Order: sequence, then structure tokens, then C-alpha cells
Amino acid sequence: MPSEGLNGEVFYPSSEVIEYANIKNWDELNKRASEDYLGFWESMAGELDWFKKWDKVLDDSNKPFYKWYTGGKCNISYNCLDRHVKTFRRNKLALIWEGEKGEFKSMSYYALHRETCKFANILRSMGVKKGDRVTIYMGRIPEIVMAMLACARIGAVHSVVYGGFSVEALHERIEDSQSKVLIVADGAYQRGKIVPLKEIADEALQRAGGIEHVLVVKRTGQEVNMEEGRDMWYHELLKLPIAKGDGFIEETDAEDPLFLLYTSGTTGKPKAIMHTHGGYMVGTYTTLKYVFDIHEEDRFWCAADPGWITGHSYIVYGPLLNGATSFMYEGAPTHPYPNRWWQMIENYGINIFYTAPTAIRGLMRFGDAWVKRHDLSSLRLLGSVGEPINPEAWKWYHKTVGNEKCPIMDTWWQTETGMFMITPMPCVPLKPGSGTKPFPGIEMDIYNEDGKPVKDDEEGFMVIKTPWPSMMRTIYNDPDRYVQQYWSKFPGVYLTGDSARRDKDGYYWVIGRVDDVIKVSGYRLGTAEIESALVSHASVAEAAAIGLPHDVKGNAIHTYVILKSGVNKSEELKEALRQHVGHEVGPIAKPEQIEFVDSLPKTRSGKIMRRVLRAKALGQDPGNLSTLED
Ligand code: WTA
Repeated sequence: MPSEGLNGEVFYPSSEVIEYANIKNWDELNKRASEDYLGFWESMAGELDWFKKWDKVLDDSNKPFYKWYTGGKCNISYNCLDRHVKTFRRNKLALIWEGEKGEFKSMSYYALHRETCKFANILRSMGVKKGDRVTIYMGRIPEIVMAMLACARIGAVHSVVYGGFSVEALHERIEDSQSKVLIVADGAYQRGKIVPLKEIADEALQRAGGIEHVLVVKRTGQEVNMEEGRDMWYHELLKLPIAKGDGFIEETDAEDPLFLLYTSGTTGKPKAIMHTHGGYMVGTYTTLKYVFDIHEEDRFWCAADPGWITGHSYIVYGPLLNGATSFMYEGAPTHPYPNRWWQMIENYGINIFYTAPTAIRGLMRFGDAWVKRHDLSSLRLLGSVGEPINPEAWKWYHKTVGNEKCPIMDTWWQTETGMFMITPMPCVPLKPGSGTKPFPGIEMDIYNEDGKPVKDDEEGFMVIKTPWPSMMRTIYNDPDRYVQQYWSKFPGVYLTGDSARRDKDGYYWVIGRVDDVIKVSGYRLGTAEIESALVSHASVAEAAAIGLPHDVKGNAIHTYVILKSGVNKSEELKEALRQHVGHEVGPIAKPEQIEFVDSLPKTRSGKIMRRVLRAKALGQDPGNLSTLED
């Protein structure tokens, strides 16, 4: 029996919850998976379809470049679609979608398969073939799901860029991935306004070379520039005979790349995390099945964006691999009123709802009445991801949204891990603020600076000790950085970049990042991206960005700017700089605060000491200053 959590409470699942759950005894599953984790991952892979069975479950002959299911041939898109179309699931809904303006669309597995095949045929007619990179830049519309599945189908590697990113972020990602094709929507609706995605893409393409074709999906319908010979409307190509034809599928190797997803790291530019067909497929399938306890009749809503890993793994791939019904909503949770999400849970009878603490805190502020107007009794399970959830938000979510009957799956994981790593299952007793224990078959630990395990309740670096199928394979174009960043601090183990504590029951309490990554409203940003956007402004000589605690966003971006000589400090300039960051990186990166300063604390080798800035801003002791230059 777990002892009380930090805030003094443990929530035990009801007998109904346990009775209904696929996994009724976590310890039993954990024992089986820990004693033989390769056997466990082999049996999970066996639940999916393979064109050719693997020779070896894990090839660790070239650590840390692990390979899974080597010799096997499979295609994740085939397992998401074709596998179900052959069964009674053919007419089951694969995707339900609601637009911000209230439009509704649903697609059966049969329909999603059919439309994805057309999308794939169009891409093939543009010359896209196995291994080619395709950048996708759209809002939350069904076509983004089809575009991803279509790329996977033909063995192309998708690189989805979040629709909230802007010109320079898109440019960098197109260039680094060497994409030849860009799939973009004309625009996206966000809080009743149009985000002009195609216009942003046009500006990015002026900076980037390499894109030969732009496939434009019509969503918002405003006038857009179409460049002759380069840009084509998707809906027009759909009418041509090239879109018809067979359901071509590439028989990809388990280790063939499936996608690149850019994420922020410790220093420098965002890096392309690479995932593959086989391992990623088994990892996302297994974790969703057990953690969100997928039953045939479930409607699952992951309220993330497909442009981030949460959307990749748990809007698109995980639910479809499980033959579940995935729900996707285009717009903002508070548009036009703060009951929008609750209304849709009621309307569509959502059973499982998965979102981020920042959204919960944001909606909590509007009071219980907005939730109470709706019948949320269809809900069975809730989920949380992206940052630590504070006990107050946890309890509100549990009581007001879940009516005290829905366990909360607080899932800790990363773009790099591809799947949940620390997570409860419905049958596990919960402590608000803890994701409980590592997923069965995953061995983790918490180390001190010397690489020794810390004692119970002591803080340290969280590491992963066993390989897992959906682990990133490398940083695309930069394998050295992969080794250096994740596998070098402590030889032989994967460094997560997070600090954590573990209590005497073995429950993990994640504290936060120990590097220069800032989680703002659950979005992962790097100080380097914000700083380089600021420095690209004509008035700025130097800049530093840090994250400071924020009630709703978790962290907010604070920046310190040294202006070029002769430039006057003014409030207008601050606003211009905020807009500039929004234009270059995206609205989510706009600093909360800009402070003009004359110098920045640096080490003798010229590295900005953000730790000192943070301590000063929080009125804390900056600690050891012996390496400070001045
Ligand atoms: C943080 C998001 C506490 C953590 C899936 C991690 C969390 C980073 C949790 C990865 C959680 C994610 N509790 N912290 N349940 N989930 N994080 O790559 O700092 O966007 O390293 O993946 O989010 O962010 P990413």
C-alpha cells in the first residue's frame, strides 16, 4: 500500500475501475515485463501486423544507436488503417473532428484509409518516394492526419511543424530536413481569427531553398499567393485520375525512419528527433492500450496538437493502431466561451480525455459553473502531460471534471521517448503530482552529480537505464550531438534532462528541466531560439532568456536585452521586440517581460549564466559565482 503523497493524499481506484480495466494487477504485469523486457516487447509486437517477422528484438551491438525488430518489415500506416479495414472495424469511426466554427466531420476507418491512399497517390505523383522528407505545416484539421499517414504509407519521412510556429522556425526546419515537398494549409482558425499559414510559408520559402512542390490544402478560403509551377491546390489534384488507383504501401524496414520532429535542446538550434516505423509503432500501441485502457467502444480525446509529440503519438498513431476512435478539435478551449471543451465531451460522449496542466489551470480560473453546465458522465479516465501538475489543479480536475470517479493518468515522457515512460494505469493508486512509476519493462533511476543513485526523497538527475522500442534513434544529421547530449553525462544511461525525486514507495516526483529548455504552457522552447530571434532584430546586440514560474503557464519567458549603442530604450521598442519574436519563432515564444540591461552575467568563456539571472529575478542566492567573469 503506498504511503501518503507529498500533499498527504492517496487516491485509490474504485472496484468498478479495476473491474473494467484491461490490466487489473499492475505488479503482475510489471514483474513479467521486468524479468524479461525483450520477451514483453516481443509479445506486444506480435499483436500487430508484419510483412516479415523480425530476426532480433533488440540489436545493441552499436550502443547507444539501438535498433529494434531488426530484419522485420512493417508499415505503421498499414497497421493504423489497412489492418482494421479488413475487420469489423471497417465501418467504425476512426476520426471525429470539430472545427472551431462548429463544423463537424467524421471518418470511418474505411474512409480514412481511402482518403489517405488518395493523398499518398498525389504525393507519389509529385515524385515523393521512400526516404524523402516532407514538411507539413497545418492546423488541427483531418488533412494533417491524412498527410502524416500518407507519408508513412509510401515510406516518406514527415516533419510536422506546429502551426503556431512562424517564419524562421519553419525556415530552419525545412532547411535542416532538406524537404522537397511542403504540405501547407491556406490558413488556420484560432480564436476566431485566421493564422495565414500559406503567407508565413511563402516568407519562409524565400529564406529556404530546396522545396520543389507546395501542396496547399484549403481550409480558411482567403486569397493566397500561388506560385506558378511550385504551388498546387490539393482539392484540385484530388479530382485528377492520379489521385485514384490502388492503395500502394511501401514495405518498410522496422528501422526505416518514420518521422522527424524538431524539439528544443540545451544549446543552439532545434534538433530533429528521428523515430522509426517498427519500434515507435509497438511503443505507442502498447502504452495507449494499457495506460488509457482502450476498449473497443471508447472515444479518446487527446487535446494536444499534431505538431508536437503528444499529437503524433496519441492523436494519430496510438489511437489508430489500437483501432480506437480519436477525436480532434481545431480551435481554442475558451472560444467562444470557456465551456467549449466540456460541451464537446458531452456532445460526442468522450470517454477518455487527455490534456496539459496549463490548460487545466487556465480553465479552472473560470470557475466550476462552466463545467457543471455539462453532463460529463461519459468520462472514465483523465490524463495529464507536459509538465508537473500541481496538486491543486489535479484535485480540481479530479473533482470537478472527473466527478471523483475518473483516475488521472499523469504521464511523463518526451519527444525523444516517443511513448509514456512514467505513468500510472487505471488500477494504480495515485498521489497528486506524481506520475507514479516507470512503465513496465522500463528501468529508471535518479543519480547525483557523480552518477550514483540518490537516496529516497533526494533530488537528482533522472535517467533511463533500459532501451525501449520507441526511443529516438538519433538526431537527424547530427549523430554526435545525440551521443553527447543524451548518453555522455553518465555512461550507458539515457539522460532525460529532468530532475526528480523518488519516494519510499518508488513513486517519481518530476521537478523540472535542469537545462536551458523552458516549458511555457506545456510547449517546449529553448532559450537559444528566443535569444537568436531577439538578436536578429536590428536594435539588439545581445540577449538572454530564462523561464520564471507563472501561475497558469507553468513558466513564463523573461528576457534581458543589451541594445546596440545609440539605440534608445523605450516601451515601443519592447513591444516591437515582442512582435519580432512572435514573427520569427511564433506567438508562444513572445517574452512575458523584456528588461534592457547594460551587461549580462557570463562565465570567463563567454557563456551566459542564466542561473544567476534566475536567482536574481527570484530574489534568491545565486550560489557559486567563482566562474563569473566579472
Ligand atoms: C516535461 C512532451 C512532469 C518534462 C510529452 C520533459 C513532464 C518534457 C510531464 C518533454 C509530466 C512532460 N510531468 N513533467 N507528466 N510530461 N514533462 O518533448 O520536463 O514536449 O522532459 O514532450 O516535458 O517535453 P516534450
